[in-house]
Amino acid sequence: MANPTSNCNNNNVIVFGPTGDVGGFAALEASRRGAKVWLAMRDTTKTVAVLQEKESSFERVRADLSDAASVTAAVRTSGATAAFVYLVPTNDGLRSSLAAMQAAGIEFVVFISTYSIPSNVDVRAVPASSVIAFEHAAVEAALEDLQLAHVALRPAYFASNPFKLALDLSSSSSSSSCLEAYVSNGDCLVDCIAPDDIGRAAGALLASPSSSSSPPLKRIFNLCGPQLLTFDAMLAAIGRVAGVDVHIHHLDAARWVDVMADELRALPRPAAVFLTEYYARGFVSAQDARYAPAVANVRALTDRDAMSFDEYLRLHCRRLLPGVGGGG
Ligand SMILES: NC(=O)c1ccc[n+]([C@@H]2O[C@H](COP(=O)([O-])OP(=O)(O)OC[C@H]3O[C@@H](n4cnc5c(N)ncnc54)[C@H](OP(=O)(O)O)[C@@H]3O)[C@@H](O)[C@H]2O)c1
Repeated sequence: MANPTSNCNNNNVIVFGPTGDVGGFAALEASRRGAKVWLAMRDTTKTVAVLQEKESSFERVRADLSDAASVTAAVRTSGATAAFVYLVPTNDGLRSSLAAMQAAGIEFVVFISTYSIPSNVDVRAVPASSVIAFEHAAVEAALEDLQLAHVALRPAYFASNPFKLALDLSSSSSSSSCLEAYVSNGDCLVDCIAPDDIGRAAGALLASPSSSSSPPLKRIFNLCGPQLLTFDAMLAAIGRVAGVDVHIHHLDAARWVDVMADELRALPRPAAVFLTEYYARGFVSAQDARYAPAVANVRALTDRDAMSFDEYLRLHCRRLLPGVGGGG
């Protein structure tokens, strides 16, 4: 396979959202590969945990992806030609901000999209009812319409999700030796891809050496973790590594939506409904023709095998569950 990172020359790059799990690793990897990296942040005083002592090699600039004028100013200040971009809520699928960054000098974008967009489907054909896929597809469509060269990284189920969705980490409960977790479809299989691997793939693409002055308009890489686990098995693994009991509440779909939208989290209700439907029909399957290539893409892009869920927990459990049990 040809080196998929060998199409652009991006020595000066800007990462919108470096405080994010993926964005932090994208910044770190692009820097490790020799790029000058600008951290574009809504709040430039925030800590970027993953960069820590390496912070002095990065420059910070203020920007909000939902504010095109701030994007223009940040890109002009940086002089960057490549950008890492998350989906953030806007009413135009990020179109104005992408157009602004293009006008200010960005020639190449790495966008964190989603595996829930089916392969070989025109992004404009994704139905609005598939909320999460639809919102990411709208950004991909905007990039295509703007003729802005880009990579759509389409990861499946993040290893960080149990901590951000299923587990109740409110202060009243997280100091105990038992954690409460809320799932629908506890036997749903997920791939648990580490955000670290997604970020490293993004950073490698951002900093890729030049072999062509005109990169392809669009490349898509599905990305999956190396091991399919049920939700219940993921939560059991967290309990084992953190040294706590995890008490799993198995909820029906309607109740789980209420818990995620109104009680434990503030997930937009349509997104919660989309997720329950996705979980019910199965998230990722080893028989899915996309799965094995998506695991292989991690190695092809990062030069290392995709991290297992246990490895992810050993690296991050203490940070993700401060003060809980053995903490990893
Ligand atoms: N979870 C999954 O299983 C999954 C699967 C496929 C794709 N995805 C995609 O991955 C994303 C989550 O990635 P993650 O876990 O790395 O995210 P994360 O840790 O929640 O970080 C999100 C980042 O976006 C930044 N941000 C938010 N709004 C912004 C704005 N208006 N302008 C600039 N920056 C803004 C945040 O910065 P602040 O510090 O300012 O808040 C933060 O740095 C999802 O939103 C989805 O698009 C997720």
